[in-house]
Amino acid sequence: MKTKAFIFDLDGVIVDTAKYHFLAWQKVANSLGINFTHEDNELLKGVSRVRSLEIILGLGENVDITEEKKNELLIKKNEDYLVYIDKMDDSEILPGVMNVLDFLKANNQPIILGSASKNARPILEKVNILHYFDDIVDGNDVTNAKPDPEVFLVGAKKANQSAENSIVFEDSVAGIEAANIAGMTSIGIGEASVLNEAKYNFNNFKEITEDFLNELINK
Ligand code: BG6
Ligand code: MG
Repeated sequence: MKTKAFIFDLDGVIVDTAKYHFLAWQKVANSLGINFTHEDNELLKGVSRVRSLEIILGLGENVDITEEKKNELLIKKNEDYLVYIDKMDDSEILPGVMNVLDFLKANNQPIILGSASKNARPILEKVNILHYFDDIVDGNDVTNAKPDPEVFLVGAKKANQSAENSIVFEDSVAGIEAANIAGMTSIGIGEASVLNEAKYNFNNFKEITEDFLNELINK
């Protein structure tokens, strides 16, 4: 059997943390008199914390705040987000994820995390799967946010695999773009019409069969 690098995004792929990001950002938006909806939240998927705040400020009308105030809001948002994270457990792992992780582990395939989040480690610890990962590349390790391919290229390097031999699971348009730019096999998890640039599409991990994983490993 061959060896490939399997790189997983975290938010929206392994766990549904978008709902917690939403609640924490909504509080920030409301404190500034900005209306922030679930639809707006879609714009923040895969986007860094700092960039997310800029997008939210752009939703308001002529919101002009100081750098100091921006930093305060970023700290506050993360504090609120961490209160939700602290209550997470393994019941929040998305359907089918464990089967895929177990299959890859049983077949000695490198499992890497490639996430924009600076909270990746505590989240993986909370849901009890940190030990599945051979390496973690997160928002603390890279300077360029997706769609820049940096996070995935660093991940492949840690697994000693070429980009060609790397497979990326992503739920965001920016993440699929990053994987494609890197020259990796991109797998979209979610709406195929949204993630239409992905090489393969699945609604969730329950749809991913062992035959399909074997094909990826041995091609
Ligand atoms: C991405 C999420 O994975 O991480 C974004 O999709 C989030 O919504 C980004 O803003 C940064 O996360 P964190 O945990 O560092 O604020
Ligand atoms: Mg994501």
